[in-house]
Amino acid sequence: MKTIIEPNIINLVKKLELNSDIGFGKFMMPIMLTCEYKDGAWGDLHLGPYRKFEIDPSSKVLHYGQEIFEGLKAYKNEKDELFLFRPEKNAQRFNRSADRMAMPNFPEEKFVEGVALMAAYSRQIIPRRLGESLYLRPFMFANEVGLGIAVSNNYLFTIIASPSGAYFSSDSIKVFVERTSSRAAAGGTGFAKTGGNYAAGLLSSIKCKEAGCNQVLWLDAAEKKYIEEMSGMNFFAIINGELHTPQLTNTILEGVTRDSILELARSLGYKTVEEKLPINELLKLVKEKKCTEAFVCGTASVIVPIGSFHEENGTVYKLADDEGKISLILKDKLLRIQAGLEISPVPTWIHKIPKIDF
Ligand code: COI
Repeated sequence: MKTIIEPNIINLVKKLELNSDIGFGKFMMPIMLTCEYKDGAWGDLHLGPYRKFEIDPSSKVLHYGQEIFEGLKAYKNEKDELFLFRPEKNAQRFNRSADRMAMPNFPEEKFVEGVALMAAYSRQIIPRRLGESLYLRPFMFANEVGLGIAVSNNYLFTIIASPSGAYFSSDSIKVFVERTSSRAAAGGTGFAKTGGNYAAGLLSSIKCKEAGCNQVLWLDAAEKKYIEEMSGMNFFAIINGELHTPQLTNTILEGVTRDSILELARSLGYKTVEEKLPINELLKLVKEKKCTEAFVCGTASVIVPIGSFHEENGTVYKLADDEGKISLILKDKLLRIQAGLEISPVPTWIHKIPKIDF
């Protein structure tokens, strides 16, 4: 697998400018990395201009949804240093998703090389403010022509990138408790980062919005009793000063941010608990002010405090620390570690990206 870099991309990235309100995932870098899989083998990595795909209308991904993706960020600080945070974790999760979706694995070191290249060539435009970064979106889809339901023989791996700010426009969010519909069932694809899991949540996102909320809280599909995750994030609650998060199952996406928060919190002296978390028990603890705080976490969202839980019947449970106390301490620490401004509890979390002069 060779790496081919088109020289004309330098002109595309050199003079780019961002407007002040960058939002999340709105502005795309004018470059992208691609790699094709054909006849049982990956071709070369190719870094070139951002362009539209030409896909045959019978391409399998359009009909049967054989698709996976990842999300990670490159962080730049005031000293113009650029870092990736645990990219090998994303590469490994990508391949776990690939296994579940009957897709070929993508070599881990090439995944990391690809995201590092995209970040290096985007350096000039990556914002330096804490909380802003370059959001990188690697993805892969089945691209064989034909309507038979079968594992595809051809795939396209791609990385695009978007300089981004906060995922939510508010400092805390309202969470809608989904007690009817399900996101993932045991034995399904819940642990894989595949588009269908997100599509399955969209109908509930309409109900959620109508209730004035920002995110859906999913419960286990079998009993509708235990908290699993949000639509694109993991869940934490602070109960009697301890950090609680649902234990991982094959219906929950294993978040890199989730894992980092557990490790970081322990290094700061907090007790962490990974156990089944029954929703009714949690809401009772919120009412009794034993659960004072809760937050969502993910690569895109980082850490965002939950202000209140909302039932479909209109009942609202407000958190005592609805603006987050411990959540914001953890958020600040994590952001500073990711931007290379503070020592990481695990030194290998941080990958410095060398400067390319052009
Ligand atoms: C991420 O946090 O990177 C995600 O993938 C969540 C979402 C934007 C889909």
